[in-house]
Amino acid sequence: MADLRLAELTPENIDAAVGLALRPGQEKFVAPVAHSIAQAYVTPTAWPRVVLDGDDVVGFVLANFDPDHEIEEFRCGIWRLNVAADAQGRGVGRFAVDAVAAEARRRGRSRLTVLWENGTGGPEGFYLKVGFVPTGELFGETVGTKEI
Ligand SMILES: CC(C)(COP(=O)(O)OP(=O)(O)OC[C@H]1O[C@@H](n2cnc3c(N)ncnc32)[C@H](O)[C@@H]1OP(=O)(O)O)[C@@H](O)C(=O)NCCC(=O)NCCS
Repeated sequence: MADLRLAELTPENIDAAVGLALRPGQEKFVAPVAHSIAQAYVTPTAWPRVVLDGDDVVGFVLANFDPDHEIEEFRCGIWRLNVAADAQGRGVGRFAVDAVAAEARRRGRSRLTVLWENGTGGPEGFYLKVGFVPTGELFGETVGTKEI
């Protein structure tokens, strides 16, 4: 994974983004990319990006930068993160978190949040590894916060 970068959705990469397949059993922890893109389409503060390795789409991340949101946890955070099954375990997820953190800092923010569902095969271990600390619970999910 030497050549990772973020890119906006385009007519050229959207099919690959929508077709991102997770490992069996992971689907219950994150919405399908098509659903996330639809939500981004109707959410002006949403920030959807694909992760490219060279020309290949290996991941999708949806962030949200909504500084005036009534719920503090939703003002600056990662909403969705999907890494392709065959690209997992090679730093794509960490790269996406770092890239969202860089964008958040560019916007003057100092804290990133994420919500995750607990369970076997879920993303909790990943988020703890990349620096999020459990800081609460919302809608039955754990809230993780990372100082950036
Ligand atoms: C969770 C997910 C995004 C991780 O992406 P990834 O590209 O495989 O993660 P990375 O390779 O960047 O891993 C970064 C570190 O976290 C660790 N890690 C990754 N997944 C882990 C897990 N489930 N449990 C514990 N540690 C984990 C890696 O070993 C790595 O550690 P290192 O830096 O010491 O080597 C990916 O598995 C995924 O898409 N899961 C299904 C969808 C999902 O749950 N998304 C989150 C919804 S909020």
